[in-house]
Formats: sequence, C-alpha cells, structure tokens
Amino acid sequence: MNSLTKVDYPGITRKILDWHASHPRLLPWKGQGPYATLLSEIILQQTRVEQGLPYYDRFIRLFPTIEALAKASEDDVLHAWQGLGYYSRARNLHLMAKIIANDLNGEFPSTYDGWLRMKGIGPYTAAAIASFAFDEPCAVLDGNVYRVLSRLFTPEADFYTNQGRRDYQKLADQLLPRDQSATFNQAIMDFGALQCVPKLPDCNCCPLTGVCQAYQQHRTDQFPPAKPKLSKRTRYFHYLVPVDREGYTWIEQRRQKDIWQRLYQFPLKECTHSGDSTVLQKDFLKEHQLLDWISNEESKDYKHILSHQVIQTRFHVLTGDRLPEQPAFRRVKIKNLPKFAFPKVVHCYLMDYSIYLNTIHHKNG
Ligand code: ADE
Repeated sequence: MNSLTKVDYPGITRKILDWHASHPRLLPWKGQGPYATLLSEIILQQTRVEQGLPYYDRFIRLFPTIEALAKASEDDVLHAWQGLGYYSRARNLHLMAKIIANDLNGEFPSTYDGWLRMKGIGPYTAAAIASFAFDEPCAVLDGNVYRVLSRLFTPEADFYTNQGRRDYQKLADQLLPRDQSATFNQAIMDFGALQCVPKLPDCNCCPLTGVCQAYQQHRTDQFPPAKPKLSKRTRYFHYLVPVDREGYTWIEQRRQKDIWQRLYQFPLKECTHSGDSTVLQKDFLKEHQLLDWISNEESKDYKHILSHQVIQTRFHVLTGDRLPEQPAFRRVKIKNLPKFAFPKVVHCYLMDYSIYLNTIHHKNG
C-alpha cells in the first residue's frame, strides 16, 4: 500500500455493502438467532459451506434447541457428526450446550469476551457469533476476509504470524461500520466467497477494482500469499476386522488423548512404516486370542489427511468360530455397526465392504 495515499475506508465499506445488497446469499442459519449461529459457525470452522449444509440441517432436525442438544448423549451427537471430521468440534459444541442450558439458564453469552471463554471458540468464531447474533461491533477475520483484505491493501504483514494477524485485524476493524456489524461481516465474507474467489476472480465485474491494490498492480494472482506448508507425520493404521460364525465383530471406543477421541474402531495396530503390517503377526493375534483364525480379504488403503498428520489405513478381515470375551471390546453384529460413530476412514470402509462383511459369515463355519 502506498503510505502517501489516503485510504477511503468508508467508501470501500459502502461498496461492499452495496454489492451484498444485490448479491444476497441465502443460507438457512442467517437471522435465526444464537443457537443457529453457534451451530453453523462450529460446523463451518473447518468445513466448506456446501459440505456443512446437510450437517446443519441434520443437527437442527435432531436437536432443535440448545436444551435438546444439551440433553442428547455424546454418542448421539458424535453419530450425527459422523463424516464431518475434526470431532473435537462436536464434543466442544455439546459441552457448550450443557453449559448454556444448565449453568446459564439457557442464556447465550452475548459478547465477544463471553464467547472467547468457551472451549473450542477462537477469535474468529467469537467475533462471528457476537456480531451475527448480537450485533456486537467486532470484525471477523476468516480465510475469505483475509483474501479480500490482502488484495485490497497488499499489506507487508505476514498473516501467519501473531503480529501479522493483528495488522490484518486492524484493517478489518477499520472497515467495520459499528452500527451494521452483522450485515457488514456477512457482506465481506460473502464477497470473498463469491466474488473475490481464490482462483481466477472475475475482476471485470468487481465494484472494487478502482481501489484494489492487487488489481491496480496486475498482481491479483499473487495475493494472498500462500500459507507455509507444514510437514506432516504419516501414521499407518492396520485394523483387524474379525468376523465370527454368528456374524459378530469387535469394536472398541477410542479413549486415548489422540485423534478421533470416543469414536469407535476395530482392533488397531499402529505402525510407523508402510511395509510392516504387523497386524497379522503372531503376537498381535495371540494377544487377541485369534491365533487360529483364518485370514481373509485385505482392503485397499484409505488415506485421511489432517492438518498435522496423514493417516494411511488398511483393514484385514479374519474369520473364525466365536469371538472370545475380551473386556476391551464390544461384540456387535455386523449389521448393527451403522448405529455407532466411526472415523471417516472406517465409515468409508464399511460403505465399500458392508455387503462382503454381511455375507462372509454365512460362508464361514
Ligand atoms: N463461514 C462461516 N460462517 C459463515 C457464514 N455465516 N456465511 C458464510 N460462510 C461462512
């Protein structure tokens, strides 16, 4: 940005508001009060709108009020969240529902600071809920807003540092009209999502080209600067899927402090290298009292990419007579597996192989 040029912040704000007035984006949670806002913002934390919409509909149908969500079992909440990933969001949402319904007598926090005290709520989400649901004057700064600000002002600041984030927040604060906080926040987010898109934005129909630094410098494609790449750890998960003569298998709930807490899974052997599928090695089978079981189908690999790690997963079916009692595992009928909440890779495996799993025990024995 040329420091000698005086930026017309109110003029930019007006143009974004005008653009929004003629490009309304209809989303079912807009203007529906704090519960709908909370639900949508938690769902959209690491999820695109198109992917989040069916989950929002499902949650509103299953748990229409904060009280209904507070009363639900954790298993039911995780089950409704199945497939969306980053399950700590669902656990935090459930915890917030209990705090609001039980400790705060159903009164939602109405301020930025009040929301920030809740587990699972960061600066963006606190600003979004406080402004959308209570019209508090706090500017939101999410990926869409970052892109718009970066192109408009081409600041030196590095968004991926604390200082850079503060500099961007100042720009967002400068644009926010204090008496139209909800409308403006929604407008600039929608402007980023629909007009100032990441790749090949159609600047020919953009109302801001006259004030957009990136456009004026023919450098739209260089903004925003890319996020530095994290190196990710790869983990190899080998699941044993034992199917007995009566059509039962074993599942357990993940309890350790790790990904997928409290979701269900089959007996797991984790390896550090791709080659060593120790799952079928004798000591692992012996530990599970499955030494004399017969090895069957091995699945294709399922890959799950998280922010800090990559999980490579393979499933190994074993068949045998009757699963022994083991305190760590629940013996459940294959056909009842859909009642449980599984990590996405397990869910995908079950979708691909459920017919096979449901019939294999007939051939066996
Ligand atoms: N992403 C997060 N919150 C959103 C909202 N209210 N509208 C559009 N995209 C969003």
